[in-house]
Amino acid sequence: MQKKENWGTPFGAILAVTGSAVGLGNYLRFPGQAALYGGGAFMIPYITAFFLLGLPIAWAEWTIGRYAGIRGYNSAPGIFRCITGSRKMAYAGSICVSLTTLIFAYYVLVEGWCLLYAFRYLCGRMSAADTTQTFAAVSGVQTDGALFQNGLLNPTLLCMLVCFVFNFFLIYRGVVKGIEKFCFIAMPALLICSVIILIRVLTLGNPTGTEGQSVLNGLGYMWNPSQPGKTLIQTLSNPQAWIAAAGQIFFSLSLGMGCICTYASYSKRNDDIALSSLTAAVGNEFCEVVLAGLTIVPAAVIFLGASFFQENLNSSFSIGFNALPNVFALMPFGQFFGFLFFFLLFLAATTSSISMLQPGIALLEEGLKLSRKSSTAVMGVITFAGAVFTAYFTHNLTALDTLDFWCANILIFLMAGVQIVVFGWILGIGKGMEELERGAQIKIPAFYRFVMKYITPLYLIIVFLAWAYLKLPDYFGIIAGNAVVQMSLAYIAFVMIFNFFVTSQSLVRWEKDEKLEHGQNVADGEL
Ligand code: PFF
Repeated sequence: MQKKENWGTPFGAILAVTGSAVGLGNYLRFPGQAALYGGGAFMIPYITAFFLLGLPIAWAEWTIGRYAGIRGYNSAPGIFRCITGSRKMAYAGSICVSLTTLIFAYYVLVEGWCLLYAFRYLCGRMSAADTTQTFAAVSGVQTDGALFQNGLLNPTLLCMLVCFVFNFFLIYRGVVKGIEKFCFIAMPALLICSVIILIRVLTLGNPTGTEGQSVLNGLGYMWNPSQPGKTLIQTLSNPQAWIAAAGQIFFSLSLGMGCICTYASYSKRNDDIALSSLTAAVGNEFCEVVLAGLTIVPAAVIFLGASFFQENLNSSFSIGFNALPNVFALMPFGQFFGFLFFFLLFLAATTSSISMLQPGIALLEEGLKLSRKSSTAVMGVITFAGAVFTAYFTHNLTALDTLDFWCANILIFLMAGVQIVVFGWILGIGKGMEELERGAQIKIPAFYRFVMKYITPLYLIIVFLAWAYLKLPDYFGIIAGNAVVQMSLAYIAFVMIFNFFVTSQSLVRWEKDEKLEHGQNVADGEL
């Protein structure tokens, strides 16, 4: 058994998990997905996914994480193997580690956009008149290589670099001094600022005087189940909407990627994980549905009109950058609030992105016995290559969206399936629930046993098969016709092969250690 780190306090664990969950997914990705899949109609697959997938998989991840954590494992390959005893499952765990690493590669770029927007507000260089042009310049969406035209002196690249270094600085400081301490400061600050901005948006009325662009129209776009040109039935019969809703729940709650099980593995034996996971999940949904859902989409409708969504949904991360500067332009002290919002978005993104690095670091440390310094350096090289790749191929944000689609929708889906099977079928639902409820102040409703064993896996299988049957063939066409998509898939393959390799080496080491330990126990027994 290895020496392990623990969270400083149980509240620190909740804050860190909520910090991982609340991020760009809440403020940028969720409104983008909701708008893309019919506004209010999207909320039906979304809420269903929260109760039938999100909560069960959150409980499963916390349970398997703490279970293996007290036995000395923190990385998904170690955790899966510890529970199942299977080498194959360790390799499955390595896919989880790859997912967080891959998501980091594009997430840090968007984090850089937030920092740059904050900086522009601070310097008074942000005007509402040209928000889409500002976004085009910051993201380089018009052509590949746009951000590299002045060498490395491009402001977006510099901001991305600052974010990158800051993330690695925090990770290097460790779980308590880096992650937990940072979340203690950033999370309350983010909450206060979000509430202020929500109040401002909801009290805007109809500032442009254009028909159909009032607060009520904005809220209607977000919450009405039927949209012009897209009925409720059309949305609900589209498997892509169901897979996107599930993907959004997983992405937003940081589930399915071994991130939460790694965080949970730093819990102590009798920490209350049932309530902690519920608190973190509910906190995340509050930020996503209430704070972001009532702010970003209505703000976009108010200033840019509902047609904006039809024309500009090429990337799900872009809405907030186009819509919000208009809101700040109309607020008293708008420059200040603009700065505050984007800076806090940057902080929220950072509490999430550090959690994407920890699974990879944990694997390198416990599998290859690398020091913190070396494991941070290895992760640094791999993620830097991905970040530069996404920052270079910015035309229509194809690289970013390809990584996001395959990692945060499809693979996340498969890995969430593996985790619920590990919990419900391999650890066993009886033992799993007992583990989950040890030290807990709440009791999980009994019907969740049935949900977690049968409904959640079945739900995942049905939605996935429906999607694969109806939509997968389209993607072969997209892959064949676009070189950037192919390169993005090559990067995904590279990271996966790397983590397979690290896992194979880790297995050799774990098996050797166990043999030695076993030999030692036998020798002790004989004496
Ligand atoms: N949950 C984060 C968000 O909503 O922005 C994103 C995320 C965090 C994805 C951690 C993956 C992960 F491992």
